[in-house]
Amino acid sequence: MKPKSDFRETIVALVKKRGFYWGPSPEIYGGSSGFFDLGPLGKLLKNRLEDNIRSSFVRANFWEVECPTVSPAIVWRASGHLEGFVDPITQCTKCGQLYRADNLILEQAPDAKIAGLSLDDLSKKIEELKVHCVACKGALGPVKEYNLMLKTTLGLDQEAYMRPETATSTYLLFKRLLTFFRDKLPASVFQIGKAYRNEISPRQGMLRLREFTQVEGQVFILEKDEHDWPRFESIRDDKLPLLPYQIQESGGDKVTSTKISVALKKGYFQKQAYAWCVHLAYSIFRSMGFSEDHMRIRQHLPNERAHYAIDAWDIEVFTSSHGWVECCGIHDRGNYDLSRHQEHSKEKFSVKVDKKPVVPNVLEIAFGVERPLFCAIDNAYVEDEERSWLKFPPEIAPIQVAVFPLMSKPELLEPARQIFEAIMDTGFITFFDQGGSIGRRYRRQDEIGTPFCITIDYQTLEDRTVTVRDRNSMEQVRIQRDALADLLKDLVHGKVAFEFLAK
Ligand code: GLY
Repeated sequence: MKPKSDFRETIVALVKKRGFYWGPSPEIYGGSSGFFDLGPLGKLLKNRLEDNIRSSFVRANFWEVECPTVSPAIVWRASGHLEGFVDPITQCTKCGQLYRADNLILEQAPDAKIAGLSLDDLSKKIEELKVHCVACKGALGPVKEYNLMLKTTLGLDQEAYMRPETATSTYLLFKRLLTFFRDKLPASVFQIGKAYRNEISPRQGMLRLREFTQVEGQVFILEKDEHDWPRFESIRDDKLPLLPYQIQESGGDKVTSTKISVALKKGYFQKQAYAWCVHLAYSIFRSMGFSEDHMRIRQHLPNERAHYAIDAWDIEVFTSSHGWVECCGIHDRGNYDLSRHQEHSKEKFSVKVDKKPVVPNVLEIAFGVERPLFCAIDNAYVEDEERSWLKFPPEIAPIQVAVFPLMSKPELLEPARQIFEAIMDTGFITFFDQGGSIGRRYRRQDEIGTPFCITIDYQTLEDRTVTVRDRNSMEQVRIQRDALADLLKDLVHGKVAFEFLAK
């Protein structure tokens, strides 16, 4: 699979025109890179993704918490972010423009193998591949480290930082959570909330943001339980599309659909509980509508991992705009975080195992919502001879049902309004449109991915039937208006396929 030329521009034009998102924000003052405004459709789509994510976590027995987005410097000294949360940057020696070195190399030499390279090796690659300044073509300086946290001040002079991940704010609650869980581990919690990263010259739209919504699930667990995890049995025979680091190190990128039990035997995963987390993350992405053939799970090379990680795998989604996009990290953080916060806060973060104090380990699933949001639009876009449309799964579509009176006549408007209200009452986001030709109204809904359109016509007045039009096939069926609410529930939640009705 390869990215398609012009696809990126098509998606960018569509999201702006139809009100998914706009930016960089604030547009009327020229915009700051890395900030975007969600328009009405983008916000609906994001809510749908978040609803799916939330219900997946809750069903997997995670409890939701919410913590502040700003914390004093001591937190970030303890977490290691002040020292270790850094990106490699390079500056143009001619015009002074700053770049993130690894991204710039990949932009100008997409096949370069740079994962995990040291700062010196990145500098050498820049020279070797003749990577240059985009703005003035000037030569680039040596690659240096740059801290990604956004600094702020509390009161007059207390140094503080916007959180670069929700995870750390969750770990600070460990003692409280332990009491909530009546001292029983494993225990799982998650947060969905804003995080901030002061990216250097972000230029990839929604894929690299300075402010974004993070979803992070944390499993607090003792080492002994990680290898013997009761929930493992239910997933051991499931397959995952894996790309372990050994294969990457030998220059390969072949993904193999591997049974989870086999992945453990082969040593790709070390722990049952970690493998279960990778499976959960993958299921969450499936529940957001991503298809198996557009996903792979890639292990980080040992020198590519974040400062807190013992093992890390990313879920990547294939997009026609940007190729493979890293969307989710699953991290084995060991007891790094809880030990560090115990040491710096002097609070006790251990539990008793065989009468000895043990600091538990943490397994984490981490992702931003905006990347899957972008990928969902990219993956849904279809252009054929007749139309361009978004084939969102009905559960994800921002608007699920549109209601049209065939013509803007009082005798049709009145029943159409009643039907619209009745569908809204079922909880679906529903759109009423009486303007323009019916064909044009269908096209407008196709373009934003609305899966079903209901039309009220003169036959409705005679026999109480309406038409239901399917976005994908553009076929229509007539059904009794009293059966509409139940039918739409079945269609949107995938309990019945439209093809089945149309037969
Ligand atoms: N908490 C891990 C991350 O932000 O990627």
